[in-house]
Amino acid sequence: MGLFSAVPGRLRVVEVGPRDGLQNEPGFVPTGAKVRFIDLLSEAGFGVVEVTSFVSPRAVPQLADAEEVLRAIRRRPGVRYPVLVPNLRGLERALGAGAQEIAVFTAASETFNLKNINMSVARSLEVIAEVVREARGAGLWVRGYVSVCFGCPYEGQVDPEKVLGVAGRLLELGVDEVSIGDTTGVATPRQVEETVGRLLKELPAERLALHFHDTRGTALANVLTGLLMGISAFDSSAGGLGGCPFAPGASGNLATEDLLYMLQGMGIETGVDLDKVVAATRFILGVLNRPPASRYFQSCQAVRADVRGP
Ligand code: HMG
Ligand code: MG
Repeated sequence: MGLFSAVPGRLRVVEVGPRDGLQNEPGFVPTGAKVRFIDLLSEAGFGVVEVTSFVSPRAVPQLADAEEVLRAIRRRPGVRYPVLVPNLRGLERALGAGAQEIAVFTAASETFNLKNINMSVARSLEVIAEVVREARGAGLWVRGYVSVCFGCPYEGQVDPEKVLGVAGRLLELGVDEVSIGDTTGVATPRQVEETVGRLLKELPAERLALHFHDTRGTALANVLTGLLMGISAFDSSAGGLGGCPFAPGASGNLATEDLLYMLQGMGIETGVDLDKVVAATRFILGVLNRPPASRYFQSCQAVRADVRGP
């Protein structure tokens, strides 16, 4: 038995760049550029592309054009396009703009949740219960997020039991899958083993996804740990864009290109075309006018410069 023999042969990569990436940009990205970015990502072959957030535009002005973006994207058959929804008001807006999938979100720490959505964890679960009931009634697919599962910028250590309590409750409320977030990129592999191991004692692996930010360079090592434990869905963002405006020190998500490069090398299928993701990243970085966080993307640029010569 090889070290990787338990690793699934096919994985789901959930692209969150248009939402988690663009929510954290200092400036407002024009609506047309957001739509083009999402369309390019759709063409790359992801099964899920998270589009935007129907949150308070005062809280996240970067995504104040959520309706326009969701209405304008070209939907590819078979692709899911979830949007973040914090409350019934957000659900109503999302449904009005044609959402067929949503994501609800809460946290494993009280202080982070208050800063992020101005609710205690218990209160947010009550609000989520109503949102999920309505959303399921309307036939929507629902993802649930739990933030700061591996450490909180306000409270420090987070008990895996707390993560289990919140993730388990989301599943009881009827969400289709739960994404376990390392919001500020503090996790390391042994900790992933401990927390995910605790979850897997009670919850099915196929209902869990892992969402690593790469603030300290540990995201790929953490993915590998999750893979070895039988997790088969991972979130990432094209170019490594991202962060949470309400989590000091949060920087980009794990870069999709870096994740795909590793998975391809390991012979794991995702259905996603790496070159097309690079093209989408090249487009959005041109709009943002800044360098990529993705190491794989940087290597492509270096090769292009080599080929062109000095
Ligand atoms: P609040 O101030 O407590 O709520 O905000 P409120 O009900 O008093 O509403 C305040 C104002 O917002 C009112 O407007 C409402 O009408 C309006 P005003 O009367 O002052 O003009 N409002 C809305 N407007 C549009 N759409 C809505 C909506 N709801 C209220 N849905 C609230 C509470 C939850 C609304 C606010 O705190 C909020 O929107 N927070 C969003 C925070 C956010 O988006 N954070 C980033 C996403 S989470 C993340 O990035 C983590 C993740 O990536 C995983 C990980 O990495 O861990 C998912
Ligand atoms: Mg995130």
